[in-house]
Amino acid sequence: MSKDAFRLTSPSGTEIELQVHSGSVGPDGIDVSKLYKELGVFTYDPGFMATGSCESDITFIDGEKGILLYRGYPVEQLAANSSFIEVSYLLLYAELPTPVELEQFRNTIRRHTMLNEGMLNFFKGFRYDAHPMAMLAAVVGSMSAYYHDTMDVNDPAHRDIFAHRILAKLPTIAAAAYKLNCGQPFIYPRNELSYCENLLQMLFAVPAEPYDIDPIAAEALDLLFILHADHEQNCSTSTVRMAGSSGTNPYSAIAAGISALWGPAHGGANEAVLNMLKEIGDASQISKYVDKAKDKNDPFRLMGFGHRVYKNFDPRATIIREMCHKVLKSLDRTDTPMFDLALKLEEVALKDDYFVEKNLYPNVDFYSGIIYRALGIPTSMFTVMFAIGRSVGWTAHWREMISDPNGRISRPRQLYTGPSQRDYIAIDKR
Ligand code: SDX
Repeated sequence: MSKDAFRLTSPSGTEIELQVHSGSVGPDGIDVSKLYKELGVFTYDPGFMATGSCESDITFIDGEKGILLYRGYPVEQLAANSSFIEVSYLLLYAELPTPVELEQFRNTIRRHTMLNEGMLNFFKGFRYDAHPMAMLAAVVGSMSAYYHDTMDVNDPAHRDIFAHRILAKLPTIAAAAYKLNCGQPFIYPRNELSYCENLLQMLFAVPAEPYDIDPIAAEALDLLFILHADHEQNCSTSTVRMAGSSGTNPYSAIAAGISALWGPAHGGANEAVLNMLKEIGDASQISKYVDKAKDKNDPFRLMGFGHRVYKNFDPRATIIREMCHKVLKSLDRTDTPMFDLALKLEEVALKDDYFVEKNLYPNVDFYSGIIYRALGIPTSMFTVMFAIGRSVGWTAHWREMISDPNGRISRPRQLYTGPSQRDYIAIDKR
């Protein structure tokens, strides 16, 4: 949709009109695509603080009001009433499924949970203590070596089976990575179980004895996956769209997204939060670390705090904090030092002018690790859990990008600050 134009006059007095586009909700966008052609200048926006890269129907965020909508539905309502499989259907197909559609989709996902047996050999090649995110990125990337017969990005049926395979196989790959780390045998999926029950048994079951799935643990994981499912043009999703824009196969695009998510400024923050809480140790040290976070000369940041978009509370953090209470209570955890420390740290930080003035509130990563840890999931697996939830968002955005009839390869420009042209100097003249 376009609205009236935005008039711009260059220093040399040339005037141009830039079209203004409006979405269905949210800020308008000024179309600057003809700026270079007509004025010979680029826009300049490191980190894309104020740049819209695409149109999307999938997720809307209002950072000031703390609003997060998946296909128009508030995440709070989906967290309270839906399931991760149903939310995945919604994100992929744009509407909530009918009961028949949901059951068909659930069964389709179940039919893709197993890995090609050859893929299991990869895990024999990794060091026993390889980081699970390294293994996840490698094995997901290898899917393009197994499914090359269904990777025609222009074939809707291939796009569907790719989506089903990613959603279904990530838990199996994640659990296989964990089993390598703990030296236990790989556990096959059991398709009579729900998505999260299956993940729990692949993670924690052992051949030597029966494994009882805790329904609260399955419920907590399902909620966390709903809350992590998508978040518009975040770093890893933009990476998937950028990689996919070259026409590469979708498995390689998702593997690129996994790598981007791993960074501590992004999905790696949930692992960094637990490591930070361990470093802080107890409430007596909180002020010291809050001061470190405020010190411009100290690289330390309060992990799990701040967000590029949310300049108020992150609605996901609020829901996860409540889930923390429920999970710890249901697991009879009276001794909850990490959670108590996290609550105290939030209380101290949010009373500090530095955090209030810079709008630094707990984000989705601040409390999620407390739940994962309470479920027995090691810190090194936290970002892997984030990737499982986000896999459907990456896949939905890839599908939206690849099916855009006006789509083109993403190729930003730059502000060049290097040396102007100069002649080669022979080595005996240097
Ligand atoms: C996720 O984009 C998404 O949607 C991401 C995500 C998703 O669902 O995909 O929501 C998931 O990645 C959540 C964010 C997880 N990362 C962390 O918790 C790491 C700690 N947070 C920061 O590194 C930071 O807040 C970011 C990366 C999240 C946001 O960075 P921005 O938007 O580039 O903001 P900034 O770094 O420019 O910070 C603005 C100011 C700076 O101070 P000044 O230079 O203006 O004086 O706030 C300060 C920063 O120094 N600041 C912090 C801080 N975060 C920002 N100071 C102390 N501790 C922090 N955590």
